[in-house]
Amino acid sequence: MTLSKCTLWPSGETIELNSEDTLLVQLKKAGKKIKSSCGGCATCTDCMIVVKSGELNLTPQTFEEVRLLGNVFHITKERLSCQTKVTGDVTIDISAHEKSSSSTPAAVPKSTTTRLKKREEIEKAVRESEEKSQEKPSETWYRHWESEGEDKDRPKRLGGNKRPKPFNFTDSDKENKDK
Ligand code: FES
Repeated sequence: MTLSKCTLWPSGETIELNSEDTLLVQLKKAGKKIKSSCGGCATCTDCMIVVKSGELNLTPQTFEEVRLLGNVFHITKERLSCQTKVTGDVTIDISAHEKSSSSTPAAVPKSTTTRLKKREEIEKAVRESEEKSQEKPSETWYRHWESEGEDKDRPKRLGGNKRPKPFNFTDSDKENKDK
């Protein structure tokens, strides 16, 4: 078992790592908070770390790691700590994990502008609404069907509020009818 030095970026803190356990396990043992939802099964990508230097001192990517992260390590410099073992000195960045673990949900500030209504105000509002509901509706359309009954000679209203026009007989029509 070889021991190697791991430098944490940007704090510069160093920890000793062995070559048998994964980075995730050893970082957790060292008291670092690293997220891992799948428990090291290479299905969540939560345990991702960024390699700053010494990438050649890491074990090659496993099939599961490449399947999750893609074959773009040379661009992103990201590795899954649950799939990576260290064989030499490295510098890694785990600041993303520290940020997310230290952030606590902000306390909701209590509103100081909320004004409780007094009992008298509430009772007054209730009284007003009751009075309004008892008011007689305006004459124009209160029981309008009764007033329409007076006008029996007029043709019945059709949809669209239109009345059918009465047929206009011309004088010639009347003469023809008489014959
Ligand atoms: S812990 Fe889930 S992928 Fe590493």
